[in-house]
Amino acid sequence: MVQVTPFLLILSMVLVAPGHSAKKCVLTGRWMNELGSNMTIMAVNGKGEFSGFYHTAVTATMNEIQVSPLQGSQHRTNQNSHPTFGFTVNWSFSDSVTVFTGQCFVDDEGNEVLKTMWLLRSQVDDIKNDWKATRVGTNVFIRLHSRQECKWQQGGSQASDSAGSATRSFCSAACYTQ
Ligand code: BTN
Repeated sequence: MVQVTPFLLILSMVLVAPGHSAKKCVLTGRWMNELGSNMTIMAVNGKGEFSGFYHTAVTATMNEIQVSPLQGSQHRTNQNSHPTFGFTVNWSFSDSVTVFTGQCFVDDEGNEVLKTMWLLRSQVDDIKNDWKATRVGTNVFIRLHSRQECKWQQGGSQASDSAGSATRSFCSAACYTQ
């Protein structure tokens, strides 16, 4: 017993050390990306399947934006607390479909973050226009806590060494509770 206590202490220190976060990333909940789009992911079932709703802040069409359904699945989580996942948004207000794929992480500050890539397929009237029908991009989602609103803001930092200087731009979220 005397030897077990220091072992548990060291184990817990290793697990909570930066970069080795023991915190689990869970998909269920409300999320917002850097475009200002919001989504709600409902409960993940035993097979890893989930559904939800997506409210995009932007559209490639002239149509009025409507909240649209999403369907997805995540990889088994019992071995992995930072699951990979994919979901499809079947847009209610356009003929387009977007597929997202990504991974749920916990950052150095302990915040859950979804790093995703997406393909947006728009409908075209002629096969000759197929080449321009698919857009690709990335989105980063942060969790919205109950009654919380967040705004993404763009920032920049200057770094220089003997070889010159470079400007790094980044996005960070400013959140406030209503
Ligand atoms: C459409 O314009 O036909 C449907 C809306 C597409 C919105 C895209 S999906 C990828 C990107 N991320 C978002 O949150 N919105 C845009």
